[in-house]
Amino acid sequence: MNFHLTTTLMVTFTLAASAMAGESVSVVNTSHNLSTSGRGNIRSTTETRVCIFCHSSHNSSSEGPLWSHETSKTGQFRTYARASLEATAEQPTGATKLCLSCHDGTIAVGAIKGLRNPISMKGVGSRGEIPDGRRTNIGMDLSGTHPVSIKYSQASALASSHLRWPPADVENRVGPDAEGYVQCTSCHDPHNDSRSTKYPFWQKDTFDAVCETCHTY
Ligand code: HEC
Ligand code: HEC
Ligand code: HEC
Ligand code: HEC
Repeated sequence: MNFHLTTTLMVTFTLAASAMAGESVSVVNTSHNLSTSGRGNIRSTTETRVCIFCHSSHNSSSEGPLWSHETSKTGQFRTYARASLEATAEQPTGATKLCLSCHDGTIAVGAIKGLRNPISMKGVGSRGEIPDGRRTNIGMDLSGTHPVSIKYSQASALASSHLRWPPADVENRVGPDAEGYVQCTSCHDPHNDSRSTKYPFWQKDTFDAVCETCHTY
């Protein structure tokens, strides 16, 4: 990562951290607060920092914004492949790869790049992972979830009676990522679990408001 990009990210981060600290609504009161102050089943027994499980200014990778968590090897995921699908679901990329670094259940929740031993956690499995059998351990078979890491192409959207072109969200949260891909973050916001009481980390107030960014029924 070049120096200027790092500086920009650091500034963005400091701003985001202070904005978040000042708000009652933030990652701090979600199940993504994996520090000792978290209120979920899975949390650290030693680590007090909140962002460190996903971001760090040291040893971070280019896989995501100052990304700190160890990521899974891709290539082994079973992707969505129903015949009705126009687009091709690729092996996880972008934010999907970041989410799966914990949610595929193969990597310790406390596994941070540059740390010899994972951060010590409670509520995890024998290898430090989100335990097998928990709904949040979605595994490596993605054939049953909404297709992710698929290109939202203009051609297939225009050819389909169920897709909008261009996808439109006035708040600019839902929708394909900067590379034009549908990802886990098209529906979920990993920092905010306050918009919907029904759907976890939901990007909008209602279920339909998310879908309707891209789909017409
Ligand atoms: C459980 C993981 C997780 C935690 C904890 C977390 N983040 Fe993130 N964060 C992400 C992911 C994933 C992305 C990438 C989102 C994307 O690509 O759309 C991200 C992106 C960001 C970005 C880039 C802008 C954006 O929103 O996409 C900022 C800034 C950020 N996080 C700040 C923070 C701060 C500050 C904290 C601690 C208060 C924090 N995050 C805690 C997962 C996390
Ligand atoms: C550092 C590890 C980590 C990363 C990275 C991460 N998560 Fe999580 N997530 C967790 C843990 C741990 C829980 C709590 C699991 C439990 O208690 O069963 C959780 C819970 C959730 C839940 C369920 C919340 C609820 O209340 O039911 C959703 C949805 C979720 N994460 C989505 C995401 C998405 C989407 C991303 C990527 C944008 C992501 N997570 C990235 C660790 C992570
Ligand atoms: C099209 C929207 C959409 C996309 C894309 C999506 N999810 Fe979800 N997710 C949901 C909904 C809706 C729920 C609530 C439970 C349900 O109805 O299945 C959910 C639930 C979850 C849960 C809680 C466990 C459960 O089954 O209830 C986790 C964890 C999760 N999602 C992670 C992810 C990850 C990781 C990705 C990317 C691989 C992803 N989601 C992509 C809509 C989506
Ligand atoms: C960021 C855009 C986006 C969002 C948000 C989104 N989708 Fe999709 N969805 C797509 C794309 C693109 C496809 C693939 C269409 C294709 O290529 O055939 C798709 C496919 C589907 C399919 C059909 C899969 C198949 O086998 O043909 C269903 C059903 C679906 N989405 C439902 C939903 C629901 C329900 C929601 C809201 C919870 C939602 N989608 C949110 C973009 C999105």
